[in-house]
Amino acid sequence: TVRSFATTSSRQNAIKTVTVIGGGLMGSGIAQVAATTGHQVVMVDQTDDILGKSKASIQKSLQRVVKKKFAEDPKGGEQFVSDILGRITTQTDSNAAVANSDLVIEAIVENIDVKKKLFSSLDKAAPQHTIFTSNTSSLPIGDIAVSTQRQDRFGGLHFFNPVPMMKLLEVVRIPATSDETFNKLSDFGKAMKKTTVDCKDTPGFIVNRLLVPYTIEAMRMVERGDASFKDVDTAMKLGAGYPMGPFELSDYVGLDTMKFILDGWAEKYPENPLFQPSALLNKYVAEGKLGAKSGEGFYNYK
Ligand code: CAA
Ligand code: NAD
Repeated sequence: TVRSFATTSSRQNAIKTVTVIGGGLMGSGIAQVAATTGHQVVMVDQTDDILGKSKASIQKSLQRVVKKKFAEDPKGGEQFVSDILGRITTQTDSNAAVANSDLVIEAIVENIDVKKKLFSSLDKAAPQHTIFTSNTSSLPIGDIAVSTQRQDRFGGLHFFNPVPMMKLLEVVRIPATSDETFNKLSDFGKAMKKTTVDCKDTPGFIVNRLLVPYTIEAMRMVERGDASFKDVDTAMKLGAGYPMGPFELSDYVGLDTMKFILDGWAEKYPENPLFQPSALLNKYVAEGKLGAKSGEGFYNYK
């Protein structure tokens, strides 16, 4: 009941303007969905060249949506795309980009020092009411939030790849996150038409805490010679109903990203056997086979 009061009051000053920092794989998807659901979006990246590519990828993704949604109405489809693109502006100066922002969603490189440096600077540039969030896959939100003076207005919004298709949003709170902030973030997730789940600031939140050890165990199974990676993928798709097997999914997420997550946890929690390195994963990354994005991983994409 306390929560429903808070939800009601937060609706009155709901999040309308969003700054997405990082226009890569995740940032461009987040910007797309936020604009699709009526939010005003500023997307930030390091150069205009990168931002041009981000906008092109949003356009391409929207075309896939239009192909189905407006199959019989090409004019309506054109209007749909131009309305959404019209709600997205781009910026290379992140401090300037947050000046009128209700919410910041950070989706830059998975590096704690780079993220802390960014938030420390944004903390001085953003209005008092602006809520800060990170889309980190594996870093503790609390370790990032300490770079600011607004830990009560700090949380995690963890989206899934591909953002336009995946229905889940993990909303993460740290002990300092206020109820008002948390409720606003959950409401924002629902406004983005995602189903939200409440997470504490534990390694991998819910999904990655289960998905990463499962995927690494699949790699260990292959290392032991118990099955081929293709058979493992076939088995998990047809026997467990997963849309992708663990090797296809690793290629999709990026083998370097998988290794980065695992190595970070192994260093932080050396006693946990689930977080131990995989020789197979290390071999692929050392050979530069990073998955779909590099043209080759467990599978060939060339
Ligand atoms: N934008 C818009 N539409 C998209 C899209 C995108 N980026 N990607 C897929 N689609 C839509 C399209 O409408 C497509 O239809 P068309 O062929 O007409 O374009 C439809 O999805 C089906 O796509 P595909 O035929 O290409 O392939 P699919 O049926 O296998 O679906 C998938 C693709 C939705 C990605 C599905 O395979 C899937 O759910 N895979 C698992 C993804 C997953 O587990 N993601 C989580 C990764 S972990 C993570 O993100 C967290 C982390 O921190 C690392
Ligand atoms: P990406 O490499 O595709 O994109 C990152 C973007 O951030 C790049 O375009 C880069 O130029 C930009 N960038 C880097 N430093 C910047 C700075 N200081 N200011 C502005 N822009 C900067 O990476 P991604 O896969 O989109 O991942 C982004 C974040 O999302 C990471 O924290 C990652 O862990 C997390 N995440 C990734 C996935 C996934 O499946 N790839 C899923 C969920 C969460």
